[in-house]
Amino acid sequence: QDDKFKKVISHAKEYGYVFQSSEIYDGLSAVYDYAQNGAELKKNIRDYWWKAMVQMHENIVGIDAAIFMHPTTWKASGHVDAFNDPLIDNKDSKKRYRADVLIEDYCAKIEAKIDKEVAKAEKRFGDAFNKEEFISTNGRVLGYQKKIDETLSRMGKSLENEDLADVKALIEELEIADPLTGSKNWTDVKQFNLMFDTKLGASADSAMDLYLRPETAQGIFVNFLNVQKTSRLKIPFGIAQTGKAFRNEIVARQFIFRMREFEQMEMQFFIKPGTQKEWYEHWKETRLKWHLSLGMGEDLYRFHDHEKLAHYADAAADIEFKFPFGFKELEGIHSRTDFDLSQHEKYSGKKLQYFDPEENKSYVPYVLETSIGLDRMFLAVFSNSLQEEALENGTTRTVLKLPSVLAPVKAAILPLVKKDGLPEIARKIVDELKWDFNVIYDEKDAVGRRYRRQDANGTPFCITVDHDTLQDNTVTIRYRDTMEQERVNIDDLREIIKKEVDV
Ligand code: GAP
Repeated sequence: QDDKFKKVISHAKEYGYVFQSSEIYDGLSAVYDYAQNGAELKKNIRDYWWKAMVQMHENIVGIDAAIFMHPTTWKASGHVDAFNDPLIDNKDSKKRYRADVLIEDYCAKIEAKIDKEVAKAEKRFGDAFNKEEFISTNGRVLGYQKKIDETLSRMGKSLENEDLADVKALIEELEIADPLTGSKNWTDVKQFNLMFDTKLGASADSAMDLYLRPETAQGIFVNFLNVQKTSRLKIPFGIAQTGKAFRNEIVARQFIFRMREFEQMEMQFFIKPGTQKEWYEHWKETRLKWHLSLGMGEDLYRFHDHEKLAHYADAAADIEFKFPFGFKELEGIHSRTDFDLSQHEKYSGKKLQYFDPEENKSYVPYVLETSIGLDRMFLAVFSNSLQEEALENGTTRTVLKLPSVLAPVKAAILPLVKKDGLPEIARKIVDELKWDFNVIYDEKDAVGRRYRRQDANGTPFCITVDHDTLQDNTVTIRYRDTMEQERVNIDDLREIIKKEVDV
């Protein structure tokens, strides 16, 4: 698995998807740049989301709020006081860790023991093996599970009650060691605010302390009434937005999974108080369907319902994705009640209420939120698409089976040879198709090598112009996933590609 993840990272670099930021200066930790193909893939994911959320919903509109917001926003939202990670330092190694991550890693190790027991039993019992039954009857496995449950529940409670001494005690009782050095000499646990701060204005006395937004959501809340009035939308309605967010993450690892500068795609759905349960279920289902529509497979996704809730939520679930390093959060669906709007009313002194003509009264709407990290979605799609296939002739091919709708380049147009008028025809095809799709021209190397290059690049179609083209206006179209080839008329190319890449 580690190996697979390393391949994902090196493939992303080799094929112009993701580079480390400021690489010539040895990079900047947890900051990445999207390269020529990466920027296209990212844009396509964003468009796919925007289309599903905004274009396809009459009652959802999109906005683009600024990254800088009035600093009181973050007092009201709770981020100044409650957007913290619990940190612990190791006195010997001087390394800093997130206390909850240390504890979760410890639980993951015990979970691996359960998996091992299960695998052993499965081998022993063969076809007769029933996993659920084994887990529910095996004393040792039950013991492990109990340990995990108790540990996580105690950590959750301590963090919720801000009882940081107990988090430290837990780490010591479990004898958790520094993952790098093995030392168990810990400091006290401290809270660390994740927001980046900066200053607005030049002169020292009039400068204002600002934060880079840690989520895009607040730009929607503060604009709620402006949008409602100008769009004249009636509840229930939604406001969607994509844009950068910034968090000074302590545990910055796992490539673009957890970054310090990242992009979110969020939608706030404003509803009548009391209807949040049904909308919560509705948006959980709708968002899962969106993921499944990419056709990567149902077994890659699962829901994780939160027991420990953020300061603003009355229910929350994650859609988790099977990344190369296991199931991890990809998207959150949060029932935020009237927390945000009420807080902004309180801090701004402005009414943020909706007059409901059916009820003939005003109220602060409740909010259902869907929030997905664009970069994380990128990693999900990219890592799952990267495959190595053993071919019949004994070789392997590296292929990036991106969903066609998301692929950066939809088709590569290849003249079989660089003479006899074939390049001219290929260029003409490029010139015609480029109005509708991102296509490229490639004449370098033997055609077989060009196919492999496009496979690894994720291009769903290769179109080859050969000498027969001169006679009958046909070309060979080769499909990335099956490697099948077909002879088709040049005039049909647009329709063939469109069928495959249009949403
Ligand atoms: N407005 C709610 C909110 O921001 P969140 O669970 O903190 O909720 C939502 O973030 C999503 O944003 C996550 O599910 C994840 O996909 C993405 N995300 C959060 N922090 C991230 C980071 N440091 N790097 C990349 N993506 C991140």
